[in-house]
Amino acid sequence: MDIILSQAEIDDIVCRMGIEINAFYRETKESDPVLVVGVLNGAFIFMADLIRKFQFPVEVDFIQISSYGTSTVSSRSVQLVKYPQVSPAGRHVLIVEDIIDSGYSLAFLREWYIKRGANVAIAVLLDKYSRREIEVPCEFIGSQVANRFLAGYGLDGGGIQRQLPYIAAVIEEDV
Ligand code: IMP
Ligand code: MG
Repeated sequence: MDIILSQAEIDDIVCRMGIEINAFYRETKESDPVLVVGVLNGAFIFMADLIRKFQFPVEVDFIQISSYGTSTVSSRSVQLVKYPQVSPAGRHVLIVEDIIDSGYSLAFLREWYIKRGANVAIAVLLDKYSRREIEVPCEFIGSQVANRFLAGYGLDGGGIQRQLPYIAAVIEEDV
């Protein structure tokens, strides 16, 4: 496995994102906490680290989706697997995701929350920009990465790699 981001590099990225997000939500009142929604499963470690940087009131929720890809881009569809528990109407929602690839997952989630009356922002750790098929505004991006399959720090490489404390590119034979 090639290490793409070391533990120290991830720490720096998460700190920088924390500073940006703290500035963005600095006016938040106790009576109207930001609803931070983690996208299961990949975002669980990133979310745990990021949220501990936050200096504004938060409430936590989780959502899980799965995407069914087909040969044609236009028919790619995303399904909700686990519904969130908190009603997002009228809330400030920060969606926390591990990686954006084609963009369909985050495009779906952004729309899902906007349709339900939320004021949405997205924090995504990794951006495989060269793979984008649909534009999605992402307010907070950790790092652009090359088009390789990545594992570790929550990302699933098809094996035991989710728990790795760093992010590595998976060589096909390793999966
Ligand atoms: P998108 O809908 O194509 O943007 O895909 C985003 C989702 O695909 C992420 O939530 C990840 O779960 C998964 N994904 C995309 N690239 C990788 C990768 O390199 N490693 C692990 N998961 C990935
Ligand atoms: Mg994911």
